[in-house]
Amino acid sequence: MNGARKVHIRSFGCQMNVYDSHRMADTLAPEGYAETARAEDADLVILNTCHIREKAAEKVYSELGRIRALKRAAAREGRRLTVVVAGCVAQAEGEEIIRRAPAVDLVVGPQSYHRLPRLLERAEREGAVVDTDFPVEDKFDVLRPPSREATRARGVSAFVTVQEGCDKFCTFCVVPYTRGAEASRPVAKIVEEVARLADAGVREVTLIGQNVNAYHGDGPDGRPWTLGRLLARIAELPGIARLRYTTSHPCDMEASLIAAHRDLPSLMPYLHLPVQSGSDRVLAAMNRRHTRADYLGAVARVRAARADMAFSSDFIVGFPGESEDDFRRTLSLVDEVGYAGAFTFKYSARPGTPAADRPDQISEDVKSERLYRLQAAVDRRQAEFNARCRGRSFDVLFEKPGRHLGQIVGRSPYLQPVQVMAPTQMIGEVATVRITEVGANSLFGARVPAPMENRRGAPSGAESMLVEG
Ligand code: SAH
Ligand code: SF4
Ligand code: F3S
Repeated sequence: MNGARKVHIRSFGCQMNVYDSHRMADTLAPEGYAETARAEDADLVILNTCHIREKAAEKVYSELGRIRALKRAAAREGRRLTVVVAGCVAQAEGEEIIRRAPAVDLVVGPQSYHRLPRLLERAEREGAVVDTDFPVEDKFDVLRPPSREATRARGVSAFVTVQEGCDKFCTFCVVPYTRGAEASRPVAKIVEEVARLADAGVREVTLIGQNVNAYHGDGPDGRPWTLGRLLARIAELPGIARLRYTTSHPCDMEASLIAAHRDLPSLMPYLHLPVQSGSDRVLAAMNRRHTRADYLGAVARVRAARADMAFSSDFIVGFPGESEDDFRRTLSLVDEVGYAGAFTFKYSARPGTPAADRPDQISEDVKSERLYRLQAAVDRRQAEFNARCRGRSFDVLFEKPGRHLGQIVGRSPYLQPVQVMAPTQMIGEVATVRITEVGANSLFGARVPAPMENRRGAPSGAESMLVEG
């Protein structure tokens, strides 16, 4: 095996796309591939693509133009550069990618990453290989776990896929087609993966899935476990100080998950709960399967379980048929929930999804204008949320060196970056910080002695928690 080969992997998508990039790197490491941050140095370039909006999908083709030039330059030096397109564009477009970009040697969908070593051998022999199957074998059994070194290099916070795919079929969304039907990993495998991460120094784990709260993996008792039960099990693992999960569907906020927010101090009081729209008419057309009132009910139930909860969301503006009145309902929902942050998107028609065929598409101008207004409303709420943090103390998990000499930066329970003067030896530790200043993108704070409560963040002292409005 050639030990000197280098692989450059670039992620264009969501957290699961990033997680998959890591798993590909880990699976190629025993094949003799070391990771490089520079495409120029690589023998193998993998573009891990995203199909969610047109802009995301088009990025891959502009990047492939640059890679083609690198491939030609490598050939002139007598080197071979193998080019792989992975991810959700690969799944959606398959052979079409090779037709449009002949420099591509291999197109591989998200369900076939465990076959990567074999597929690369085939691509080197034959060229132009496409694998967009949904294989019967379990890729997670074959994908290699990260080495301790790789885990350390990736930092103290890690993602773990617990569930993949989606059966919800929102009418705008490609995910059910690119990631397939919903499937959950068994509890034992997830526990093993988290324990291994903890052993290598990871302190925070975010359980990820396209529809993570629909989790129903086999438990050790042979029965399906809920996400709430899984979180409770993982919270017992030594070393894991913080737990998060994303992304959730409002219809799947079931009782054990709400109880987990009440009972697990290490489960962070910050929930990304996408709503997409505040109008019942639009929600129905999106096939979201919930109303505005259902959504507000879910938010209220979580808040009742834990008073210091804060929320974020995803919103789409300009869904086909969205009227000014519908849009105003979205604006009013932002105020009603008082989000700590949100992602806002212009509706992007995706081939093969039902909404793309609707005749009542909204003009680009109207979409841009609504996006601007919605973003302003979200920014206002986020600024208010951040301003309320001044003078409060909460636990921060330190992640890396900060902006200035002597500073390190960590995350608050609400994922806000917090800059603090402290030694780099504290990276990986959780410490109580008093917020002294609120900047545009970060908070600034000073360490204070730990409160009397348990360091793992029991929300019993009013001063150690941020109480939401
Ligand atoms: N449940 C998923 C959502 C994936 S897509 C998850 O686990 O993350 C992330 C967000 O992209 C969605 O919540 C939605 O707001 C947005 N999105 C999806 N399809 C879109 C489209 N066709 N146009 C614009 N935004 C879209
Ligand atoms: Fe897409 Fe809807 Fe499934 Fe989320 S729940 S992945 S938006 S189809
Ligand atoms: Fe994009 Fe696929 Fe994730 S379409 S958002 S990379 S699941």
